[in-house]
Amino acid sequence: MPHEVFNPLSAEHQADPYGAYESLARRGPLHRTRLGLWLVSGHALATDVLKNRAFRTDYATALAQAYGARFRQHPSLRHLSTSFAIDSDKAGGDVRKHIARTLSQARVHAHRDVIRDLAQGLLEPALQARSVDLLREFAIPYTLQVVCKLLGVPSQLAESIPSVSAGLLTALDCARLSAAELKDLDTRTQAIAEQFVAFLGSPQARDSECIAGLLDIANEHTLPLESVFSDLLFLLLAGFETTSSSVAQIGWFLARYPDVADDLRSGAADTAVIVEEFARMFPPVHIVTRRPGVDVELAGATVRSTQTVAVLIAAANRDPSAFADPGNFMHGRARSSVLTFSAGWHHCLGAMLARQEIGIALEVMLEHPQLRRASVATWRKLGVFRSLQALSLVDPHHHH
Ligand code: HEM
Repeated sequence: MPHEVFNPLSAEHQADPYGAYESLARRGPLHRTRLGLWLVSGHALATDVLKNRAFRTDYATALAQAYGARFRQHPSLRHLSTSFAIDSDKAGGDVRKHIARTLSQARVHAHRDVIRDLAQGLLEPALQARSVDLLREFAIPYTLQVVCKLLGVPSQLAESIPSVSAGLLTALDCARLSAAELKDLDTRTQAIAEQFVAFLGSPQARDSECIAGLLDIANEHTLPLESVFSDLLFLLLAGFETTSSSVAQIGWFLARYPDVADDLRSGAADTAVIVEEFARMFPPVHIVTRRPGVDVELAGATVRSTQTVAVLIAAANRDPSAFADPGNFMHGRARSSVLTFSAGWHHCLGAMLARQEIGIALEVMLEHPQLRRASVATWRKLGVFRSLQALSLVDPHHHH
């Protein structure tokens, strides 16, 4: 197997990651990089790895490799690593189960009207001006308020989350935080933790069924309130960074391809089907990593227990053997196999919420023909996540 050069932080990859993925996928489903990393680019093989319990998530090892064995001395990294999503056996799996119930189909569905009102209430005023940053003025406040509603976190309390989320995402990415950035992130995270702990200790915290359940689990397992904050921090982060990136990327696509927007506006296609095709083409998470606990055979190669397998879900979503003409936006494809929300044990717990809120944002955006504007997008320099820094839309015909 020839050794590949794979650098998601390179300028070429940042400009067009999909070109790199397509060329990898053409050469085969499994690759080895010069640095010893395994890359899975094939759709069938990616699905196998994600569903195989021998391959586990191992964020703690990744954090230790990047920031040293004592990474838990950093409050920001400690909160990430003690959240239920990274510490997968936390409270014997009770937190995970409780969150799965909080984000169930029925609960998500019951919030439809509230979510639609949020989308309309934010997009209308944002589009009055000649130019708008669709990310900052719509996608971020919308998705943050949606996840707050579902979890029962007061939205004023969560307003400071965007000031730490870019840093936390970088810590989970293959990009590295500098010592100064990490120090700043620690200070901000600590300040937010104090506000949350004060709230969690107050009687109002019990008004939310989700938070009351987390507090009960913490009590039962003698975990401190800080540990409940870790879970909420991860949920707020996972719940708005991904969806805001998706909503903004859809806005960017609609602004660039007004003919597609007109076609979608004609209403022939089902929203859920369109959302799935956007999810396939522009996933906000490009890579998930796994490590096997023991040596494992994979597509004729041996992956050692200490080696890391990077599953390139964004590449698998464009594998031509799974999706014909993968670079083309074509709603109406078979919907089951898009890997944007991962698969297997660690699949995304917020997938139903995400699909619904993205669908509502799409419908509301399509109701506004002013969205047909010239767009300028800047991307954050991340490799695991594909995330916009800003998305400015300018309306050249605006006369107010
Ligand atoms: C477009 C939106 C979203 C995308 C593309 C997305 C994607 C993902 C992916 C790929 C994973 C799996 C990581 C892995 O396999 O290692 C994941 C896990 C997770 N996601 Fe999402 N996500 C989205 C929205 C959300 C939302 C709205 C929430 C919650 C409110 C959420 C909560 C979670 C949680 C808790 C996990 C960890 C599951 C576990 O490991 O037990 N996500 N997400």
